[in-house]
Amino acid sequence: MSLNSFGRVFRFTTWGESHGPAIGAVVDGCPPGLALTEADIQPWLDLRKPGTSKFTTQRREADEVRILSGVFEGRTTGTPISLMIENIDQRSKDYSDVAKSYRPGHADYAYDAKYGFRDYRGGGRSSARETASRVAAGAVARLVIPDVDIFAYVSEIGGDAIDYANFDPAQIEENPFFCPDRQTAQRWEALVDAARLDGSSLGAVVECVASGVPAGWGAPLYAKLDSELAAAMMSINAVKGVEIGDGFAAARLRGEDNADPMRPGADGPTFLANHAGGIAGGISTGQPIKLRVAFKPTSSILIPVDTVTREGDASQIITKGRHDPCVGIRGVPVVEAMMALVLADQKLLHRAQCGGGAAD
Ligand SMILES: Cc1cc2nc3c(=O)[nH]c(=O)nc-3n(C[C@H](O)[C@H](O)[C@H](O)COP(=O)(O)O)c2cc1C
Repeated sequence: MSLNSFGRVFRFTTWGESHGPAIGAVVDGCPPGLALTEADIQPWLDLRKPGTSKFTTQRREADEVRILSGVFEGRTTGTPISLMIENIDQRSKDYSDVAKSYRPGHADYAYDAKYGFRDYRGGGRSSARETASRVAAGAVARLVIPDVDIFAYVSEIGGDAIDYANFDPAQIEENPFFCPDRQTAQRWEALVDAARLDGSSLGAVVECVASGVPAGWGAPLYAKLDSELAAAMMSINAVKGVEIGDGFAAARLRGEDNADPMRPGADGPTFLANHAGGIAGGISTGQPIKLRVAFKPTSSILIPVDTVTREGDASQIITKGRHDPCVGIRGVPVVEAMMALVLADQKLLHRAQCGGGAAD
């Protein structure tokens, strides 16, 4: 059993550990003939890479991607595309305590319970270093869905939410938080810095919108577009919740308030609201796909936490080393990548079943 792969037609497999020589992804099922070079992938990796501000981990990784296969004369050949990113800045000495004691909130105990053996260096396979491979694969997925526009942003850190009245997409790349509200971003500077100086951490909510998805992608029951997206997002490290559309808030609405009323439009129905997040019956409606992802606070903190050793003795652990004070910030490019990977797969699945139908 492996379970390191995701997707059905557009399928990717990631490999590698935090402190191995390299990590990477193999993308299988990519249509042939798409123009692809490293330059199509690198900008997305640069958005996720560590060490870019004091609000992210100080691990220094160039995260330079190399395409090893599946591309000839600048075009995808239809064969597996192998993507590799070298690990440059591994420092095992930061992680020696982890060999002895389990870090609460990390995969240490669960991995030992399951496998009886683990690569404790930087969390090994459970390290979010793996998410760089997803971002690389996601860049390839974006080429399969050129008409779909995906953007994500942080809407809340440590319980402090943006003001949607100030929402300005142009702001997202103007601050280190991927925050669309300039005033909130200023507050977050102090908030995240204070948590960092306390040796603590904060959780975050990331929102993602995909527009340009035609009506008809998805499946009615066991591969609902919403369940595929939820599975994709929940597979990201530190994610503890996913809401599609209004999500849990829909449970507090009355039917008439939660409905997305329809009116005749030039190219089919026009919706007057989007509580459903662009998905009905597991299938896209042509409205923007909207979801929210809850990231827990970084588990590695400098505040002592009770734990046990591998031998079962009571202990305490302070997780030294280089850590993000709020992992949700660097989760933004990962959420976008997973959205792209699911949508590319759904487009090809739709085409496989329905051919060049209305949603092609
Ligand atoms: C981009 C990204 C960076 C992360 N960096 C850290 C980190 O520096 N320190 C940490 O404790 N957790 C970090 N995490 C989260 C852990 O990898 C994760 O909490 C841990 O592996 C346990 O898995 P789980 O939270 O999904 O149960 C990061 C997550 C993401 C998405």
